[in-house]
Amino acid sequence: MFQILSKTELAQGTVVANEIMAPKIAAKAKPGQFVILRANETGERIPLTMADTDPVRGTITIIYQVVGKTTALLKSLNVMDHIQDIAGPLGRPTPIEKKGTIICVGGGTGVAVLHPITRGFKQAGNKVIAIIGARTKDLLIMEDKMRAASDELHVCTDDGSYGHHGFVTDVLREQLTKLGSEVKEAVTIGPVPMMKFCSKVTAEFGVPTMVSLNAIMVDGTGMCGCCRVAVGGETKFACVDGPEFDAHKVDFEGLSLRLTAYQKQEREAMDAYQRKCACAAKA
Ligand SMILES: Cc1cc2nc3c(=O)[nH]c(=O)nc-3n(C[C@H](O)[C@H](O)[C@H](O)COP(=O)(O)OP(=O)(O)OC[C@H]3O[C@@H](n4cnc5c(N)ncnc54)[C@H](O)[C@@H]3O)c2cc1C
Ligand code: FES
Repeated sequence: MFQILSKTELAQGTVVANEIMAPKIAAKAKPGQFVILRANETGERIPLTMADTDPVRGTITIIYQVVGKTTALLKSLNVMDHIQDIAGPLGRPTPIEKKGTIICVGGGTGVAVLHPITRGFKQAGNKVIAIIGARTKDLLIMEDKMRAASDELHVCTDDGSYGHHGFVTDVLREQLTKLGSEVKEAVTIGPVPMMKFCSKVTAEFGVPTMVSLNAIMVDGTGMCGCCRVAVGGETKFACVDGPEFDAHKVDFEGLSLRLTAYQKQEREAMDAYQRKCACAAKA
């Protein structure tokens, strides 16, 4: 059992950050790695990235968007409550080394996944330009943390309510045009369409690009095949071969399709959960 030490609601309560006591995981975790957890004894297993770790305090921080039954169940837990089980660290760590200038692009909750990677590249001595975006100002997360983790931060909102009015791809293109061959690598993490379009832009400029793929997972250890993705024409398992891959080789259409495979069941599970919560509230 893993105790929740803090709970912070972000983005108008659509996103939640929990710091959790997990000393063994915190001691080993590296940027880019994730955990698989079950909120309670009968819960399904879901993968979440460690947005932060503190080996001294023995804690990990997860930041998740409330999209369905399990993330709603997690949100219902409060400080001092326990998460049933957490397995990790899982996945390959981000290959971080000193290269020169790196551009890190994050959208929506992808910013939480991007944060430790951005910080890792800066700590390794790179110049890091970060670009983060959200639909509107109130949905933007981790602006201060991303500013601290990078050398230069650009903020975008789709509706122009804050920062640059437009998509992260606009600012990415501007920066690549301005900096040219100075940029040695890009990392882009967020919704699949965002990663796909960022990857198209960096391909035009010939900049190697990494994406973190949010394939549906079950065991997270390479046994079930649920997380398979096509990369460069080969089948890869996001949990053990990734979750990061060469963006220019990823089949984003295939990934989008697989992410919708269980939509009906996901909706039914969420409806049943909401009905149960409503009954409990009335009783
Ligand atoms: C390696 C990895 C790391 C991840 N890290 C984070 C993280 O740090 N923060 C975070 O908010 N999410 C993260 N995700 C996505 C997260 O696992 C899903 O949002 C979660 O499993 C949804 O569970 P649910 O039961 O609440 O919703 P579900 O009922 O399973 O799904 C509800 C809706 O959410 C969408 N959805 C479901 N699974 C995914 C998925 N894997 N990716 C994108 N959309 C999905 C679908 O549209 C679905 O209809 C990560 C996924 C992977 C593979
Ligand atoms: S989640 Fe089962 S093989 Fe990756």
